[in-house]
Amino acid sequence: MIQVAVMGHGVVGSGVTEILLNNSAEIAKRVRDEIYIKKVLDLREFPDSPIADRFTKDFSEIEDDDEIKIVVEVMGGVEPAYTFVKSCLLKGKSVVTSNKELVAKKGAELLKIANERNLNFLFEASVGGGIPIIRPLNQCLAANNVEEIDGILNGTTNFILTKMIEDSMSFEDALKLAQDLGYAERNPAADVEGHDACRKICILASMIFGKHVYPDGVHTEGITKVTLDDVGYAQSWGGVIKLIGSVKQNGGKHQILVAPMFVPNTNQLSSVDDVFNAILVKGDYTGDVVFYGKGAGKLPTASAVVADVMDCVTNLDRRRNIFWEDSKNESVMPFEDTMYSMFVRAYAVDKTDLDKRVSGVFGECSFIEKDNAPENEIAFVTPLMKYSDFDKACRTFEKDGFRVLSSIRIADF
Ligand code: HSE
Repeated sequence: MIQVAVMGHGVVGSGVTEILLNNSAEIAKRVRDEIYIKKVLDLREFPDSPIADRFTKDFSEIEDDDEIKIVVEVMGGVEPAYTFVKSCLLKGKSVVTSNKELVAKKGAELLKIANERNLNFLFEASVGGGIPIIRPLNQCLAANNVEEIDGILNGTTNFILTKMIEDSMSFEDALKLAQDLGYAERNPAADVEGHDACRKICILASMIFGKHVYPDGVHTEGITKVTLDDVGYAQSWGGVIKLIGSVKQNGGKHQILVAPMFVPNTNQLSSVDDVFNAILVKGDYTGDVVFYGKGAGKLPTASAVVADVMDCVTNLDRRRNIFWEDSKNESVMPFEDTMYSMFVRAYAVDKTDLDKRVSGVFGECSFIEKDNAPENEIAFVTPLMKYSDFDKACRTFEKDGFRVLSSIRIADF
């Protein structure tokens, strides 16, 4: 029998205990051992739980119990999760986590501790919820040099954007619905401001480059500024707006960012709706590979956590080969140098010689028309531009009597 502890009994944690209890016979058959939940750590009371007697509020009951070999961390946030996970590793316990903030901010250090002690530190559920992506990247695609990853990595924002696109629902109503359905983070700003997607693309980038990419150095935009007008222009252009996390090799540097993008209807990611996530991986030998599934929600995420626990059980004395070195984000391309075509929606005081005035500033642009657009509104797509040049061009443009209302990148994958 392998004894495990689960730290956190929230949405994902309760799903983990549910799966481990409900599927115990099947799971035992697959790992050839019984997995026994010895302790569940949470400050709240759960008197109706079938294992209510195993709840504790005291971390030392897990840390100091040498019979507990595997600890699941599903508390979320950096503290106290970081302190607890580090202590567990230092005490010789393998750790499984779904906590993307922890992995994105402390992954290099925790992987190093696990490596030195021949323990596993697994985090499949931290990216893409129930979608397998960490293990495929680490194993199935291991012979490739991964050149680029582009993903819809946040279920909440994809759900909100889908409701805005398909039902013209307001941002606020769609967010409330996502929260009611249990998709959103404790603090929804992490979803809607793009930080959750940023943590996930940082984890994927760290994996493919073998060097930690810290979220602090990654340009991150959320969807709070996306309006129903922008959604309408994207439709006229022939696409949809999606929040994309993107990383690619570019001239020895890693171009990495999170931002809303116009994705053409011809691209596979354009049809990924609701809470679904999709991750497009470009390997030098495989070409494009797309991973698709539910990126948020209790049981999809919990199933990935439980699979990691099972992996730990079958590899108790053998370390899975997941590792990246620490870094100072030295390989991350400065945001000003990133290159994209941009969609621009602007207010024009005067539309005389419009084509000439726009192309004089941005280069040759293509204009987009939309039904029921306000009289003084214009919209166009620029050529590929360095962000610093685009920013400069916007300032020149505004001196000529225009006001930029929104600017959104055009996906190039
Ligand atoms: N809040 C996250 C999302 C949960 O919406 O994708 C899964 O990481």
